[in-house]
Order: sequence, then structure tokens, then C-alpha cells
Amino acid sequence: MEQELFPNQEGLSFRQMALNDIPDVMVIEHESFTLPWTEEAFRNELTQNHFARYMIMQYLGQPVGYAGMWTVIDEAHVTNIAVLRAYRGRKWGERLLRELMKTASDLGMRRMTLEVRVSNEVAQNLYRKLGFKPAGLRKGYYSDNQEDALIMWAELPERGGAWEVGKEAN
Ligand SMILES: CC(C)(COP(=O)(O)OP(=O)(O)OC[C@H]1O[C@@H](n2cnc3c(N)ncnc32)[C@H](O)[C@@H]1OP(=O)(O)O)[C@@H](O)C(=O)NCCC(=O)NCCS
Repeated sequence: MEQELFPNQEGLSFRQMALNDIPDVMVIEHESFTLPWTEEAFRNELTQNHFARYMIMQYLGQPVGYAGMWTVIDEAHVTNIAVLRAYRGRKWGERLLRELMKTASDLGMRRMTLEVRVSNEVAQNLYRKLGFKPAGLRKGYYSDNQEDALIMWAELPERGGAWEVGKEAN
């Protein structure tokens, strides 16, 4: 994950998640998901899981989103992605996912996969926009309402390749 020390013109920057980000992450997690992860789950990911990579998106120094993945051989499995509700709809979720995809590619990943609730049309639209394609269902995947998960996959551009992913889907 690239350490971007200076924000871009919009004031956005990206960096690796650290343990002291967890309180901010929990605020976003709880307003974003009906089955939120615990602080302990994030702590374990950051300290115990060598496959895990977590990224913070910050606006003028304040965390406003995060995303994570497991990088296994040449496949990246997205674990979560969320933007603070007050900052949604500004294409920042898209920026965050593009940054995650670029980081995965830089790490040598060739493909990326994720699961999304069949009812989550906002997230599915974002994923389709960035080149993800549906590849089956996990029936009753979500334990709160037994909702199905849609499995999606995207091919990642080669390391150092052009970063106009998903343009053909527009
Ligand atoms: C999903 C999420 C990360 C998207 O981030 P965002 O900042 O709101 O989205 P963006 O402004 O970057 O929009 C990017 C694309 O997402 C889709 N999208 C965003 N808001 C949408 C809306 N209200 N309705 C339909 N599609 C929408 C569109 O495809 C959009 O591209 P477009 O504007 O060119 O059509 C954010 O809404 C979120 O945190 N949701 C709650 C957590 C969640 O559901 N995470 C995904 C779990 S799998």
C-alpha cells in the first residue's frame, strides 16, 4: 500500500490502517453494516493475519473510509469497504476501491473477488463500474436475515499498467 503523505487537491489521501485507527473505523463500521465487525476482529486482522491489508482514506487528516483485503497467491479477496455516511456520493468510494485495486495489482495480484448482499445495489453498481462481474451466489450467507451474497470477480490490470479500470463498463 503506498504511503501518500500529502493529500491531493481534494484533500484526500490514502495510507495503511494502524491500530489507533480502530476507534474511527468502528464508527464507520457501525453506521455501514448490520453485522459490524468488532474491534477485536480488526485488531486480529492488523496484528495476526499476514494475508490482510487494510487501507484508510482520509480527508484533511480525518479517516472517512476504509477498505481491506486478503492477498492470497495472486487473488485479492475484499473483506470490507465503507465510506462515512456524510461523505458518500462524492465518488470517494470509487476512489477508495480504485486505490485498493491498484495496491492489489502492485502486490502482484491478478484478480479480485468480493461478496455483496443481493439487495446492496449501490455497492453492486460501484463494483460493476470498476469491472467486477457476477459469478454466482452464496445462499443465505448473511446470518442476520439469511440474505444471499452475490460473488463478483474482476481482472486486475498488470502491475504498473494503465489505471483506467472499468472504463469499458461505463
Ligand atoms: C458502497 C460505498 C462504499 C460506495 O461509496 P460512495 O462514496 O457512496 O459511492 P461513490 O460516490 O464513489 O459512487 C461510485 C459509484 O457507486 C454507485 N452509487 C453510488 N451511490 C449510488 C446510489 N445512491 N444509487 C445507485 N448507485 C450508486 C454508482 O455506480 C457510482 O458511480 P456513478 O456515480 O458514476 O454512477 C458506500 O456507499 C458505503 O460505504 N456503503 C455502506 C457500506 C457498504 O455497503 N459497503 C459495501 C459492502 S459489500
